[in-house]
Amino acid sequence: MTLSTAAEASPRSNAEPFRTRRTFAIISHPDAGKTTLTERLLAAAGAIQSAGAVRGKAGVRSTRSDWMEMEQQRGISITSSVMTFEYDGLTLNLLDTPGHSDFSEDTYRTLTAVDAAIMVIDSAKGIEAQTLKLFEVCRLRDIPIITFINKVDREGLAPLDLIDEIQGKLALDLTPVLWPIGQGVDFRGYIDLLEKRVVSPQGKPIAEYEAIEDLLDNAALVDDPVFMIALETLEMAKAMLPAFDLETFHAGHLSPVLFGSALKGISVAELLRTLGEWGPEPRPQPAIPAPIDPSEKKVTGFVFKVQANMDANHRDRIAFVRLCSGTFSRGMRLKNVRSGKDMAVSNPMFFFGNDRELAEQAVAGDIVGIPNHGTLSVGDTLTEGAIINVTGIPNFAPEIIRRVRLTDHMKTKQMAKALSDLSEEGVTQVFRRIVGADWIVGVVGQLQLEVLSSRVAKEYGVPITFESLNYEVARWIESDDPKELDRFITAQKMNIAEDRNGAPVFLAQNAWWADRAKQDFPKIRFLATKERH
Ligand code: G4P
Repeated sequence: MTLSTAAEASPRSNAEPFRTRRTFAIISHPDAGKTTLTERLLAAAGAIQSAGAVRGKAGVRSTRSDWMEMEQQRGISITSSVMTFEYDGLTLNLLDTPGHSDFSEDTYRTLTAVDAAIMVIDSAKGIEAQTLKLFEVCRLRDIPIITFINKVDREGLAPLDLIDEIQGKLALDLTPVLWPIGQGVDFRGYIDLLEKRVVSPQGKPIAEYEAIEDLLDNAALVDDPVFMIALETLEMAKAMLPAFDLETFHAGHLSPVLFGSALKGISVAELLRTLGEWGPEPRPQPAIPAPIDPSEKKVTGFVFKVQANMDANHRDRIAFVRLCSGTFSRGMRLKNVRSGKDMAVSNPMFFFGNDRELAEQAVAGDIVGIPNHGTLSVGDTLTEGAIINVTGIPNFAPEIIRRVRLTDHMKTKQMAKALSDLSEEGVTQVFRRIVGADWIVGVVGQLQLEVLSSRVAKEYGVPITFESLNYEVARWIESDDPKELDRFITAQKMNIAEDRNGAPVFLAQNAWWADRAKQDFPKIRFLATKERH
């Protein structure tokens, strides 16, 4: 991989370098075709020789055995991988998101680092549970979405029905870019509304047009009932749907839709083209005291992910940093605003799956991996000295709360280190009750507990198990009235814990008790999410 040359040779090279970045993720329900599409996109951009070269299925599969097996093979690194590649004078950064719903928190944080998303939908299934969940995360940040309706080589729902369903379930306007001509065995190709032409399944142009009605003069096309139905439904779609508008797309309110087949490589080049031409440049990053504009000269970035032990041969810990502004160069000193400490970044990396190369220079939109020994945590902001805190990277209140049991009491110290490391990585949250010496972990999904115990055992040599606690709900507590907060903490002493930053958390037996506390203490805010810094 060479990341520095293609952009220089292109006509886009006059633009400020960050304007050539397109940083995106692919979101989908498991089995919709995300892995296949990722491979095809990389192959179409020339980043890999052929589809099939990237094995990125770790975590996409939802069964336990698959997950654990992949985990053992250090497949976790694949789920969290970043792929940086060149296309048409642009630098594309594709951030992979774990597909399993137990990892929604991880996925959420990854989505804080992208400027756009490709939403893959199985044409036979329409909107599925995980698509909806991920879409909602994108909506929170108004991330522009390109919709790719996959598997047109198979029988699926009718295009208009699919569009209707997506618009209805997501409350998102769609506008067609590629329209399919038939599907399954009847699939004849598609109408490319941007290039104004009809294209065969193999990507060969069959006919061109100025106005779509011109196609009615083409005898071969008109003789085919499948084509005529496609034309008719396209006319209906155009009458029903808004025309494309770049601003509305960039605001996250309008999604261009393409029909294709990842497996057969149909419409994949057009998807890349859509992303390249319309995909947004790096967007301003919400932060305190003010949003960070990508054109600002000083370097800022934030850690959205920490991955330990990516390389089994040496225990390393990589913090993935999304740059928000400035031109970063290797060796630069950056300040971690949370800890107040400066660090020289001497070995920053660019990633392509598990491959890495030294990053000499990077700009807003780029993802740089910084090896470190625990100095960087998820949510940290890095600057050239300014006190800026990137916002919008929360912890979610855990839904599963467990006491950690250590079988070998000689290893308390190692366990504390393991839990602290893994909580910085975002694998789990760790709480200490203000009364007693328990170690309590909180996670969003059961699978996270399994990964946690397996990693603590393997990477730190500490076998742990989990014990149920009589808590189902955790809420961070805050109040503008410190006395009232004290009164609540005193009244609920046995049920108060502190998170890793010392922030107080109320643990409730169930939703009823949580509600009751809310009513009894109206001046206290019970929060289900908390910013990580
Ligand atoms: P995921 O990452 O979203 O979970 O999906 P993945 O790419 O693994 O695809 C899920 C299944 O759907 C795979 O089949 C894949 O071959 C198939 N698939 C993907 N895109 C298309 C398409 O455009 N058309 C058709 N007909 N199938 C498609 P599998 O049998 O589960 O796995 P495999 O043995 O083929 O790898």
